Amino acid sequence: MDENKRGSFGSNIGFLLSAIGSAVGLGNIWGFPYKMGKSGGFTFLIIYLILAIFVGFAIMLSELAMGRKTGLGPVNAYKTLSKKFKWVGWLAIIAPFLIMTFYSVLGGYCIYYIVINIVGLFKGVPGAESFDALLTNPGMSILVTLGFMIICYLINLNGVGGGIEKFNKIGMPALFVMLVIVIIRAWTLPHAAEGLKFMFVPGYAVKGGFIDKAPGIMSVLATAGGQMFFSLSLAMGAMITYGSYLGKNENLPKNSVIIVISDTLVAIMAGLAVIPAAVANGIAKGMAVSEIKLGGPSLLFATLQDVFHGMGTIGGIFGFIFYALVLIAAISSAISLIEAVAVTFIDRASARGEEPSRPRTITLVCIVIFLLSCFVASDGLGSRPFAPWQFFGIGSEAAPWNDCWLDFMDTWSEGVAMPLGALLMSVMIGWEIKPKSLYDEIDNGYNGKIHGFYSFCIKYVCPIAMVFILLVQLSSFFGFGWFE
Ligand code: PHE
Repeated sequence: MDENKRGSFGSNIGFLLSAIGSAVGLGNIWGFPYKMGKSGGFTFLIIYLILAIFVGFAIMLSELAMGRKTGLGPVNAYKTLSKKFKWVGWLAIIAPFLIMTFYSVLGGYCIYYIVINIVGLFKGVPGAESFDALLTNPGMSILVTLGFMIICYLINLNGVGGGIEKFNKIGMPALFVMLVIVIIRAWTLPHAAEGLKFMFVPGYAVKGGFIDKAPGIMSVLATAGGQMFFSLSLAMGAMITYGSYLGKNENLPKNSVIIVISDTLVAIMAGLAVIPAAVANGIAKGMAVSEIKLGGPSLLFATLQDVFHGMGTIGGIFGFIFYALVLIAAISSAISLIEAVAVTFIDRASARGEEPSRPRTITLVCIVIFLLSCFVASDGLGSRPFAPWQFFGIGSEAAPWNDCWLDFMDTWSEGVAMPLGALLMSVMIGWEIKPKSLYDEIDNGYNGKIHGFYSFCIKYVCPIAMVFILLVQLSSFFGFGWFE
């Protein structure tokens, strides 16, 4: 195959596994389980699913259809579809670019934890203190970030069919099997049931002593909306890009449903593994459950490493399996982000009549991402002020948006560009180019009835939901506290 040509997926299953790979990421593992437990357990799940059906599904379907209709990545797809909205595509590549600057650091941490668990088999498995040691070691953080970027670089370099699809076809089933192993191990720990109750039983988060006060309904809606969006990889150009590589006969509505369901399933499964293990280990150590960190980076790299430490030498094996599965989840998301950025430049070159070079573009994109990720890696998620690089008051002001480099990058991508991009996308499709302009594409490979539902969602439900989600994200990232 000519490496300079635009690629394509070799099969629908290859596409599906890649899209699921993009959706399944750190958000599923450290975000969803804790948010679900804290925000009402089973009730949260229902709210999440309703949002996923009426908003997530419609936007997913729109992105895949936009990509496949135009055969182009985000920037050029918007340009082709609408004069007025052509600039929105840029939001859809700035966002993945910024996300990558910290996703790569977190992916690097996974590599580090894989290594220390293997070494731990011989020298004793380290515990939670290993995370502080890593955070305060910028050299090591940068090194593992570089390692992560090199892996992704090599995959993207090999193209869509030969790199992305191949990786996901092996990686996704492997992730699933590893997850099942970790769930079985977690459930056989004493006190694991407490963790399950926290995750599923409505009201148990307060009754069981995990949190003081149940969040209000606005806050639950807000949490579910933000989480759903990030977790499904929406408004990041990723699904437009993958859609543009998809064969014309494949069924877009069916694929969208499968992606949404699989992503939610893996998020619940991840919770079944991490929450019971973390809670069981905390209780066994005599901690109050409210003291156990059940979300975010410290869940992944401190709380859970402590669980492996508590298992003795054999913990090194489970640690290895667990961090390998998180690494696969991170890589499969990262390669979709890199691809969304790179395809823009590849398409632009073609549009100008130049010969696009995939290797050159991927190399440049990866180098720039790596350089920016050094900022994130060097301040250790805010635990280590790294003075010469602290512009924008980062580290000195305590507002959520600038308390460290990770939050700064996350604010502009997940907090602003992503919800704004999705809002503008639904307005563009619903009111400017009209839903019927995508019907042809949606009906290619599908012969059920969906026009009415789709057009209702994209015209009314999505814009309203997206204004709400945008306000929620602004409020939480800038610390306004509107929805508490
Ligand atoms: N969905 C990924 C996660 O849950 C993150 C991601 C967002 C990946 C957007 C690609 C695009 O972690």
